[in-house]
Amino acid sequence: MKDRIDAILRRNQAEYLESLLPPRDALLEEMEKFADEHGHPIADPEVAQLMRALVRAASPRRVLEVGTNIGYSVVVMGRECPAEALIETIEIDHNTLAVARRFVGEAALPCRVVFHEGAALEVLPRLTGPFDFVFIDCVKTEYEAYLDALLPKLERGAMIVCDNLLWKGQVAAGEHDAATDALRAFNRRLSSDPRLVTSILPLGDGTGISVVV
Ligand SMILES: C[S@@+](CC[C@H](N)C(=O)[O-])C[C@H]1O[C@@H](n2cnc3c(N)ncnc32)[C@H](O)[C@@H]1O
Repeated sequence: MKDRIDAILRRNQAEYLESLLPPRDALLEEMEKFADEHGHPIADPEVAQLMRALVRAASPRRVLEVGTNIGYSVVVMGRECPAEALIETIEIDHNTLAVARRFVGEAALPCRVVFHEGAALEVLPRLTGPFDFVFIDCVKTEYEAYLDALLPKLERGAMIVCDNLLWKGQVAAGEHDAATDALRAFNRRLSSDPRLVTSILPLGDGTGISVVV
C-alpha cells in the first residue's frame, strides 16, 4: 500500500482515479485488510487493475513473479490467466509464503501456481523458463540483477512489469539512498536497453511496462 496518496500524482488526480477502481471481491478485500493490519507491502489497487488488463491481453502461458508476499498479485494475475498457464513466484520469507499458499488456495485459480522459497537471486538461475510475463516486485537494489538473470529466459514479446519505479517520489526528486539510487539506475537501464521497449507510468508507486524485442 502506498505511504502517501499524493507521492506521485497530485492528490485530486490520485483520488479521482482511485474512485474509478472496481470493487474488490471478498477474498481480495480480506487480503488487503490482512496486508494493512500486518504491514505487508502488496501492490496498490490501481497497479493490480493494470495487471488485470495486461495479463488478460497477453494471455501468458509462463508467468514469473519476483516477490510473492501474501499472494495478492498471484491471485490478481491468476484470475486473468488461461487455464493452461503456470505461475511461478519467489518469496524469501517462510511464514509469508505460508500465508500466500493459504490465500492462493482459497482463490481456486484456474491455472497452476508453483511457489519457490528462497532468495530471488539464488532461485532465478535454477528456473528454466522461458517466461512470457514477469512481475518484478522485490528488493529494489536487486532489480537490475533480476533483469540480467531473467533476460536470457524471456521469449520475444514477453512483458515485464516492474513496481515501485518512482519509489514514493524519491527517484524523481533526486534523493539518495541505496534503493532510490538503484531504481534511478534501473530506470535508465530499462529505458535504454535495446532489447526492451519500455514505458514508465506514474501509476501506483511508478509502474514500468517493458516488452522484449
Ligand atoms: C513488495 S512485496 C511483493 C508484493 C506482491 N508482489 C503483491 O503485490 O502482492 C516483496 C516481497 O519480497 C520478499 N523478499 C524480500 N527479499 C527477498 C529476496 N531476496 N528474495 C525473494 N523475496 C524477497 C519480501 O518478503 C516481500 O514479501
